[in-house]
Amino acid sequence: MTNVPLVDTDIHHAPRDWRDRIALGFTKTLRWSADTFFAKRYGHRAIVLETVAAVPGMVGATVNHLRCLRRMCDDNGWIRTLMEEAENERMHLMTFIEVAQPTMFERLVIMAVQWVFYLGFFALYMMSPRTAHRIVGYFEEEAVISYTLYLREIDEGRSPNVPAPEIARHYWKLGSDATLRDVVLLVRADEAHHRDVNHGMANELAGIAVAANPAPYPAHAENLRKVA
Ligand SMILES: [Fe+2]
Ligand SMILES: [Fe+2]
Repeated sequence: MTNVPLVDTDIHHAPRDWRDRIALGFTKTLRWSADTFFAKRYGHRAIVLETVAAVPGMVGATVNHLRCLRRMCDDNGWIRTLMEEAENERMHLMTFIEVAQPTMFERLVIMAVQWVFYLGFFALYMMSPRTAHRIVGYFEEEAVISYTLYLREIDEGRSPNVPAPEIARHYWKLGSDATLRDVVLLVRADEAHHRDVNHGMANELAGIAVAANPAPYPAHAENLRKVA
C-alpha cells in the first residue's frame, strides 16, 4: 500500500490586495486557456503544464542566489527549497512523458511558451517577488484541482490505471505493484506542498503571519542519477 500524505484540496488564499487579485486573475485566465486547449486529456495537460511549472522555482532560486551574493546575506533556506521545487516538477514531467506522448504541436507550444514564460517570470520576480510567489501559489491551487479531476477520470474508468512508470517508482520509492493512481496521488501531494510553501513565501514578503505548517511533502529519492 502506497504511503500518501493527507492533502487538504480546498485550501485557497483569499486575495488581500490588488497584487493578489492580479495574480489570481492571471492564473484563472491560464486555467481557462488550459481547459479550452486540453479539455479532459489529463496526461497531455500534465506534460505541457509541468514544463511550465518547473520554471518558477529555478528563476526564484537564481534571483535569490544573486541577491544574497550582492547583499552578502543569508537566504533562510529559500534557494534550496526553490531548486528542489524545480527538480520535483521536472520529475513530474519525466513521469508523465512515460504515460502520454506529446503531439508535435504541443512540443512547439512548449518551446514557444518556455521563452515567453521564463523571461516574463524573471522580470516579474525582479520587480515583485511577492506577486511572483503568489502566482505560483495560485498555479499550485489549480494543479491540485487538476490532479483531483485526473483521479476521478481514473476512478471512473475513463483513463486506464496503468502500472506506475519505473522512473516514478524510483523517485517516490514505490513498490512494484504501484499504479498511475498512486502516482497521481503523490504528484497532487507535491503540488499541495508547493502551494503552501509559495503562499507562505508571498505572505512573508508581504509581512503577513505565515501559516504554521505546509502540507506534508511525500518522500523522494535523493539520487536521481539512476533515472536521469
Ligand atoms: Fe507538478
Ligand atoms: Fe507544483
